[in-house]
Amino acid sequence: MSAAANASDPVGIFDSGIGGLSVVDAIVHLLPKERLVYFGDTARIPYGTKSPDTIREYSAQITRFLLDQGCKAIVVACNTASAPALSYLRAQWPEVPIVGMEPAVKPGAQATKTGKVGVLATRGTLQSERYATLMTRFASHIQVLEDPCIGLVERIEQEQFESPETEALLRSIMQPMLENGVDTFVLGCTHYPFVEPLIRRIAGDQVAIINPAPAVARQLERMLQERNLISPALEGKHAFYASKPTPFLETFAAGLLSPGTYTVQYHTLS
Ligand code: DGL
Repeated sequence: MSAAANASDPVGIFDSGIGGLSVVDAIVHLLPKERLVYFGDTARIPYGTKSPDTIREYSAQITRFLLDQGCKAIVVACNTASAPALSYLRAQWPEVPIVGMEPAVKPGAQATKTGKVGVLATRGTLQSERYATLMTRFASHIQVLEDPCIGLVERIEQEQFESPETEALLRSIMQPMLENGVDTFVLGCTHYPFVEPLIRRIAGDQVAIINPAPAVARQLERMLQERNLISPALEGKHAFYASKPTPFLETFAAGLLSPGTYTVQYHTLS
């Protein structure tokens, strides 16, 4: 990004794959005048099983790419990447507003009536220092049941949002938590909102499901407002990139945006 960012510049958003599109959805609804450049690192997914060093390196590569596209702000739409990479990225690019994510443990602790919260996240997120700090700060008075949801991100990348296999996997994760009295589920990975209807069906109507994407969109809005960077009008086209051809980008964009207002491209990083 050049020293002087303009309000009409786009917002860059990235994730290891299609998960960050759940955040794109929230941003488009809250800030429809912002032009977005999305990058999904579909060639290197999942991040949840990779080392913090590797995730930092990948996140820096993607951030550089997004800044080269002229982005005025960056949203790390990935809990797994935010944990090891957020402060690193902020140190590398101190002039760029960078929004990160973390599992919504605080809202979860506020919402539960049984005092039992289920956190669904990746192994990388659950093992991170950032998550440990959240637990100490906000969850010492409640019981948190966690699961690294092994294989769920991969199924979602394959667009298995409703398949019997995905349902069986989610049931095996959630049933023991529900039997234990969990009344609140925190979606601690941006992929999981794509299976929220399935999670709702398994959990029933009485259980709270917390998707942090709207809160991330509001945080982006605050950051842009503070810097006078809110776009006054949508100019140009949204751009969606993936590091491996990923048909769902097109499906998603077509469902959310008007024809002719976006492009979908394949781009390898090295
Ligand atoms: N979507 C990512 C997150 O929010 C994780 C997916 C992965 O393991 O790559 O944590």
